[in-house]
Amino acid sequence: RALVRPGGVWRRIEVVDETGSTNADLAEAARGGAEEGLVLVAEAQTAGRGRLDRAWTAPPRSGLAFSVLLRPSVPVARLGWLPLLAGVAVVSALRGFAEVEGVSRGGMADAALKWPNDVLIHGRKLAGILAERVGDAVVLGIGLNVSLRAGELPVPTATSLTLEDAPADRDPVLRAILRELAHRYVEFCGDWTEGELRGAYREVCATLGRQVRVELPGAVAGAPDGVLTGEAVDVDANGCLVVRAADGDHALSAGDVVHVR
Ligand code: BTN
Repeated sequence: RALVRPGGVWRRIEVVDETGSTNADLAEAARGGAEEGLVLVAEAQTAGRGRLDRAWTAPPRSGLAFSVLLRPSVPVARLGWLPLLAGVAVVSALRGFAEVEGVSRGGMADAALKWPNDVLIHGRKLAGILAERVGDAVVLGIGLNVSLRAGELPVPTATSLTLEDAPADRDPVLRAILRELAHRYVEFCGDWTEGELRGAYREVCATLGRQVRVELPGAVAGAPDGVLTGEAVDVDANGCLVVRAADGDHALSAGDVVHVR
């Protein structure tokens, strides 16, 4: 089935009925030397992986689950931006979809990011992104809830396009995301400055300016219990979230953010 035609960055596109995890599959392909531009789409995943060692679950055919394999030739210090850039691409694709041929796509216009790259609509999680480094390759995996109904959500704080009055088929959404992602990736590998990266991210990030509570993967000074609260004031040059807490600013490279206010 020609879901999406290969071309440009996406050289090969494979669709499978079921697999454990498209990220795991492409990580293995990367270790085996697969070239950049491989896309793997699964109709169903039995062991989908999420950030922070969580699982990603979705009823078969109710959403999008796919991964892409990239081999970015950028300085290692810039690699941290790639997962954030993928979030920017998903939000841009959804917002671009919002008004197509006069058909209103409901909540799609309100898509935004919760740092680092959870895609939210009206404060609920629509899509998640998992970036994994495999040597000099990066596997970006994207899971997006398309047609799930209320009783099918993996967690109560999730949502789907259907629930947000944004009826859309999976294939055009996938095409739009791949197009945006290719576009941003080419700029990322080309001459995009750090200022441009930060600007593009700030434009779609709903976390900045909010009071947040961040569960950190480990204890840090100022947050011995692994929880930091304060105002999310910016993303720094490395894509870290800068949180202004009572004891000063903290630049966080990972963590689970809750928007408190
Ligand atoms: C998160 O929000 O925690 C990230 C979720 C990422 C899920 C996607 S689904 C396709 C790809 N394969 C995986 O095993 N995970 C990602």
